[in-house]
Amino acid sequence: MISQAMRFLITAGPSHEPIDAVRFIGNRSSGRMGVAAAEAAAARGHQVTLLLGPTAITPTNPLVRLVRFGTAAELEAFLRIYWPQADCLLMSAAVADFRPVTTLRDRKLERGGRLTLELEAVPDLLAMTAATTQPWQVRVGFALEEPDRLEERARTKLIGKSLDAIVANPLDTMDALGIAGQLFRRDGQVRRPPEWPTPVPKAAFASWLIAEIEAIVSERQLR
Ligand code: CTP
Repeated sequence: MISQAMRFLITAGPSHEPIDAVRFIGNRSSGRMGVAAAEAAAARGHQVTLLLGPTAITPTNPLVRLVRFGTAAELEAFLRIYWPQADCLLMSAAVADFRPVTTLRDRKLERGGRLTLELEAVPDLLAMTAATTQPWQVRVGFALEEPDRLEERARTKLIGKSLDAIVANPLDTMDALGIAGQLFRRDGQVRRPPEWPTPVPKAAFASWLIAEIEAIVSERQLR
């Protein structure tokens, strides 16, 4: 068990950006990694709020406080509410990078002819939380990358989003059961589960990751 219980805010799953009343732009994220992290953090005695996107996978531990979001805009609103009340943000949600500029809310687009969708950029929600982060709060992101540029891109995101650490995982992690993830820390350390580069089940990776985050927090308190 841990020396100090923390308040974890974990995001997971895809966002769905509506095109009309029945269609959306989404991605293949299952939410499995973030749900596993929420379960692992709760099992280690932490308080957990899970902001979960549209997915069938949900936590079974009743101690996990579950808040559902649909769109990136809804997730953004929840982050503004919940981040000031948490100690650690683990941002595993696969948030859309683009969304339709206009949505037909109560109608369906008709078939026929051609259709051009105009998309606008979604703000980087994780980067956005930097502005309201207090010195004791820890932020950990994810980077889903092609293997040949995984390390370089993960380090760029770590610095660019002012994170304490970032989990870098190859593209095939999405919607998979296992993960071959590495943790790049702001102090330059690279941490890997003993089985790396063999993928491990997401539940096992989640327990390892939460312990790594606990270590980052304890080291910071000792400084
Ligand atoms: N993320 C976010 N808001 C977005 C997109 C991504 O907060 N609109 C977060 C993800 O939750 C993840 C991290 O940013 O923790 C990296 O996500 P990823 O999709 O790998 O990269 P992007 O930030 O989208 O960067 P790029 O477009 O350069 O690949």
